[in-house]
Amino acid sequence: MSLVRPRVDCIEGYVPGEQPQDGGWVKLNTNENPYPPSPQVVEAIERAARAPLNKYPDPLATAFRRAVGELFDVDPDWVLPANGSDENLTILLRTYVDPGELVSYPYPSYILYETLADLQGADHRRLTLRPDWSWDVEGARETINHSKLVIVPNPNSPSGNRWDDTTICSLIPPRGLLVLDEAYGDFADEPHRMQLLQSEHGPRIVVTRTFSKSYSLAGLRLGFAVAHPEHITAMRKVKDSYNCDAVALAAGTAALLDQQWMLDNCRKIRATRARLSEQLERLGFDVVDSQANFVWATHPERPHRELYEQLKSQKILVRFMQFPDVGVDGLRITIGTDVEIDRLLEALADILRSS
Ligand SMILES: Cc1ncc(COP(=O)(O)O)c(C=O)c1O
Repeated sequence: MSLVRPRVDCIEGYVPGEQPQDGGWVKLNTNENPYPPSPQVVEAIERAARAPLNKYPDPLATAFRRAVGELFDVDPDWVLPANGSDENLTILLRTYVDPGELVSYPYPSYILYETLADLQGADHRRLTLRPDWSWDVEGARETINHSKLVIVPNPNSPSGNRWDDTTICSLIPPRGLLVLDEAYGDFADEPHRMQLLQSEHGPRIVVTRTFSKSYSLAGLRLGFAVAHPEHITAMRKVKDSYNCDAVALAAGTAALLDQQWMLDNCRKIRATRARLSEQLERLGFDVVDSQANFVWATHPERPHRELYEQLKSQKILVRFMQFPDVGVDGLRITIGTDVEIDRLLEALADILRSS
């Protein structure tokens, strides 16, 4: 007899991308930033490590929330830090969704939404995107109307495309909230500045951001939500008292204060993204126009799993993803340094030539 809750017992659990622990890999599979964090962040971590770590951190993360508030021109009461965006997604589910209530999200997109909805005992539904990754808003209308939360990554993963504000606002459920997961927001050609929160739709939207991607801090675990204060106050009741440690908060604050570092890295990544997309197309791939730090590439003839495996045998790791129920599979390739991307392109050219 299993003592585990049936809801937990019957799900597979989210499987994150491979994280090989030995060296020598060109790692282009989990959308990490290929560049290091700002030196000011490293200094802040060293300072924080010398501070009294025997004491708990500030449970309200005052300095961090102030820095986010200044960046986006909102009051600190609009900000909730968390142990990565994933924790804020968990907090949102636990704050807003009772067992049996409906959660919906685009499909294909970030599979974790489904796992979290399952764990919460929620009903959940996939809103299938068209083959060109656009929304069939009218087809989704009935589900959206009954949803408590609609969770939308923008830019989307694995496709990398970004939907415009009009489309995004049409996804707000009439009796619920839209969670806008902007994990990749800083890589867009024109990054969002939280303007939707200031619009008439603002009270129905929660935006989540992360330090894992644009700020090069995936190893640290820090993210934040921005929303009208009534949502933040409710979410604060649900979070662990000390969900973010003192070192992460100090690092995140320093990262926010060195915008130039992050913006320069995003600019380099956008340039490499354009080059990679063009070269992949020359090799015969179809590539979605990406606004993120990865591209979604499909080949009309070559099985994607084989391409993934052949690359892996050369210690080049990309993400093979498949969504069999909608007949979608392909390779999601993180934008690495120019040197890494050259290695990938050479290897792919060889593989495609040789068989
Ligand atoms: C769409 C999306 N949201 C959230 C996350 C998780 O972010 P974090 O590392 O802050 O938990 C990811 C990670 O890959 C992601 O792809």
